Amino acid sequence: MTQKTLSHLDSSALNYQSVRFYNPDRTPTDKAARKSENRKALISKNARYAFQTFTGRGGLHGLKWQNFPNFAKYTGAKRDFEMGQFFTPDEVCRTVIEMLEIEQEKTVADICSGKGSFFNYLKGCRLYGVEKDFDAWKISKRAFPEAQIQNVDMRQMRSIPACDYIVGNPPFSLHLPYVNHPLGTNNKVVSQDFHLYKCWQCLKDGGFVGLVVPHFRGRLANEKTHRFFLENFRTVAIIILPSGTFPALGKGLKTKILIAQKKSNINQSGISIFKTIFQNRSQVLNEWRNSSQYLEYNEMKQDFD
Ligand SMILES: C[S@@+](CC[C@H](N)C(=O)[O-])C[C@H]1O[C@@H](n2cnc3c(N)ncnc32)[C@H](O)[C@@H]1O
Repeated sequence: MTQKTLSHLDSSALNYQSVRFYNPDRTPTDKAARKSENRKALISKNARYAFQTFTGRGGLHGLKWQNFPNFAKYTGAKRDFEMGQFFTPDEVCRTVIEMLEIEQEKTVADICSGKGSFFNYLKGCRLYGVEKDFDAWKISKRAFPEAQIQNVDMRQMRSIPACDYIVGNPPFSLHLPYVNHPLGTNNKVVSQDFHLYKCWQCLKDGGFVGLVVPHFRGRLANEKTHRFFLENFRTVAIIILPSGTFPALGKGLKTKILIAQKKSNINQSGISIFKTIFQNRSQVLNEWRNSSQYLEYNEMKQDFD
């Protein structure tokens, strides 16, 4: 096995970049303007304009809780409308892809792919997406015509080839009806748990996930999902994201980037985990590429290949 040295990595890996469309991050403050821009994006024939302008449904529900019998009904209606459609900030997508250093020709999926913010950094890969919302799907199809993107609920997704990498940002905390899901209770499963299980099913043994997920008291999720994750994945890196990463969701939501490998054998032991707090992309990439875990990650990739 060839050991990469840090000096070698400094010069080669930092050049890893492939952006398709510059994607200015939009802070959803002026709702009327956002709605109008979304409408323009959806009828535009210009893929770049449509991709840059479309900001999704998150925060645009227009519902008032006073019009509901109780707060739970209001939040339920809000979730049904928004579908967890809070697109991933550009810098976060880019950090995930650049940390993973996904090589051309690899099979990469984003289950819940939105407008395709992660695809924007992937060139020359075999891309597969799944997106329930027709509008977001339409924008992504136009922006990334070579990607095979299903316009379907992830619960009904058709099979895709086994993946080398799965990247993405699932909708959080939607309680999805599903009979007897291994990570569910009372015939319901939480969206990010369903998504994690799907990633595990779709990945090759030894393949990697790079996901934005909730950060519950330092854990991934409830006890059952946490146990499933520890049994089936090896955590490689955790990057805690700032509390305002998804402005429309408020400052209370804690999220992180999680990089992990699907175990090829359930007895595979854990490895030391790279941990940091996200200040900006360069800081994360510099710390990552100078870490011992980065060397370990490259060895894991070589073994996987
Ligand atoms: C947090 S967003 C991330 C989107 C994507 N990463 C991006 O930034 O463009 C989650 C996406 O999941 C979609 N979604 C929600 N529920 C879904 C489901 N059951 N099946 C498939 N997609 C779903 C939403 O419409 C939304 O686009």
